[in-house]
Amino acid sequence: MILAIESTFDEIGAALVEKNSIGGVRIISSSIASSAAITAKYGGAVPEILAREQASMIVPVIEECMLKAKATKEDIEAVAVTNGPGMIGSLLVGVETVKAIAYAWKKPLLRVNHMVAHVLANWIDETRIPGFPAIGLVISGGHTDLVHLAQFDKWEYLGGTRDDAVGEAFDKVARLLGLPYPGGALIQKLCDEYILDKENTKYILPRPMIHDESFDMSFSGLKTAVTDLVKTEEGNLKPKAVAYAFTMAVCEVLVEKCVRAIEATGATNFVMAGGVAANKHIREAFVAKMESLGVECFIPNLKYCTDNAPMIGAAAVLKPELADLQLRPESNLKVI
Ligand code: KG4
Ligand code: ZN
Repeated sequence: MILAIESTFDEIGAALVEKNSIGGVRIISSSIASSAAITAKYGGAVPEILAREQASMIVPVIEECMLKAKATKEDIEAVAVTNGPGMIGSLLVGVETVKAIAYAWKKPLLRVNHMVAHVLANWIDETRIPGFPAIGLVISGGHTDLVHLAQFDKWEYLGGTRDDAVGEAFDKVARLLGLPYPGGALIQKLCDEYILDKENTKYILPRPMIHDESFDMSFSGLKTAVTDLVKTEEGNLKPKAVAYAFTMAVCEVLVEKCVRAIEATGATNFVMAGGVAANKHIREAFVAKMESLGVECFIPNLKYCTDNAPMIGAAAVLKPELADLQLRPESNLKVI
């Protein structure tokens, strides 16, 4: 089994994982200490405070994870850690601690790219795992990337956002509506209510770059359109209608880009990942579209969409030599 640590943002997670009989990943145990309440209190991440919290929590979290599985260091084949991208203070806490464990326990140290791990969260399953070729869409708070997974170890970057990540756009729109950070899940709630209430107000928002030939995307224009709408409507603004219009615009752009990527590559599988993949409306839109195309659709269980240690373990178990690859080629965000 592999001990994996995730610390990129406002939580520390530890997990013990192993490969299962279908070539996927089984979670033996998992522990977490979240500082999301601190992030929410300040309305965003305060890197110094978060890194200090993580420095104090990392050893207890690892101990708890080992204890729950009744595992000892002899049971561990290797230790894995997120090597970026993420907030440097948080990453350093994880990397330095895991380096020390690897040294003390004489175990191999596996470095894992956080975005590769998000994609491989789709393999945390006991019954069904993706096949190839596949198109991967990563939609998180900091990243929006489209990848062609030709084979298990042959990934090709197709495109991504040129400005804001989808999650960032969700969080900014939430802020414009006066909702706390991070607001993605709250936008989903408003959107649900809009549908339930059968509200009449309909706002029209742009679908940036939807007809652009490339696989690149842009979401900052959509956020600006919402800013303008909020200003124009002032006292009459219907937040639920904004949430709905925004979500539909995002859904349409994402679905269109992925369908084009599937057509261009002949992919037979589709995998979605990242915190925004937890969004019910986006999940439903993709499931329906992929079914109509006859493409196998995979979206992780909700708890493996947002940041989690099992996905780091999944990458270490499934792709040990390649887990540290940069998903987006020009980014160089490794710690070591
Ligand atoms: O993957 P993640 O946990 O962290 C990063 O690696 O960035 O993603 C966090 C992002 C936040 O922007 C959050 O608002 C968004 O995921 N998110 C959602 C939902 N749940 C989390 N966005 C839309 N709908 C949701 N249900
Ligand atoms: Zn993430």
